[in-house]
Amino acid sequence: MATESTSPLEERLHERLEKVLFSQEEIRDRVIQMGEAITREYSGEPLTVVMILQGGALFMADLIREIQLPLKADSVSVESYEGTESSGTVTFLQNRMPNLDGRHVILLDDILDTGRTLAAIRQKFEKECNPLSVKIAVLLSKKVDRAEFVEADYIGFEVGNEFVVGYGLDFNGEYRNLPLIGVLKPEYIR
Ligand code: IMP
Ligand code: MG
Repeated sequence: MATESTSPLEERLHERLEKVLFSQEEIRDRVIQMGEAITREYSGEPLTVVMILQGGALFMADLIREIQLPLKADSVSVESYEGTESSGTVTFLQNRMPNLDGRHVILLDDILDTGRTLAAIRQKFEKECNPLSVKIAVLLSKKVDRAEFVEADYIGFEVGNEFVVGYGLDFNGEYRNLPLIGVLKPEYIR
């Protein structure tokens, strides 16, 4: 049996979790499958993968290493504010948009929730950047009614409507470095 040693950091983080949804191994296996699917689909095409900072960073790093094709990697940085559940805006934190002229684009994020973030970015790319196509890849997709019409083309896992952390996903900037994905105990989501 494989023995897995836990670091003090992991112990501290695990202690705060109500449950683990996806282990490090499950995530790795699924990301490999997604990389294989993208490799098949974009063979011979000019591909640019654009991640949304900061949540998409870990997924990006792992996924692009499983895409066996030449590609360009870029990023966009946004902030989403949600006043009430029914309204929200996305602000771009940069002036320069990635150069996507004549490129097939995969826009990548950690999680698809309301869809506002991905819808806003895709719209801006299509309007301003002249890409050949824009598809969406997310590690997680929440089963909720989307506020904006966005469906992802590549999905790692479906999750229920609960707040998850780890593998890039944060609560107040914390927990991104947790190698697995889990749900925090209620006392830690305050
Ligand atoms: P959307 O615009 O509502 O789809 O929100 C997407 C963004 O909200 C993601 O990029 C995440 O940063 C954040 N988000 C949504 N759900 C969760 C969650 O369960 N845990 C951590 N961040 C989340
Ligand atoms: Mg995010």
